[in-house]
Amino acid sequence: MSNKEKLGRNRKDSNDDMVNLVDNIERQNDLKYNRRSFLKTAVAASVTLGVATLPFSIKAMLNDGEEEQVKVKIAKLSDVAKGESINFNYPTDQEPAILVHTKDGELKAYNNKCTHLQCPVFYEKEQDILLCPCHRGFFDVKSGHPVAGPPQRELPLIQTEVINDVIYAVGRKIRHG
Ligand code: FES
Repeated sequence: MSNKEKLGRNRKDSNDDMVNLVDNIERQNDLKYNRRSFLKTAVAASVTLGVATLPFSIKAMLNDGEEEQVKVKIAKLSDVAKGESINFNYPTDQEPAILVHTKDGELKAYNNKCTHLQCPVFYEKEQDILLCPCHRGFFDVKSGHPVAGPPQRELPLIQTEVINDVIYAVGRKIRHG
């Protein structure tokens, strides 16, 4: 009969205790090292992520709402009389915009999705104002700021440039406030 078999059912073999003790110590070490390596990995991942996104954060801070400049032809200046408006898309074909040639000769352009619930905004020649008919939101034609109705934010401003009688959209500024 072996030594183990000689021991009673409720008695413990001291060799087993040693094995359990060593086992427990190793398990605790495993846990400790796993926790430590997890923390190291998490810190390293955070630092890497922070460093990787730093250029975008700096760009966003410096841009102040200014987006990458895309130059798009809108129309011939001679085709848009004072007090008239035309629609175009900027900076992509999916983003509708409006250009107004004001009565006093200024060119003003905005993305024309209302900042309330995205309905299209039109130029009201008689009142010289931009109107969203959905809930009667009004925007100042010279600034794109909301002046009446539900909209609270300005329309995105599109910068224009005229070269040889051709009007171009040359940049966009998303504004908040
Ligand atoms: S969507 Fe323009 S006022 Fe509501």
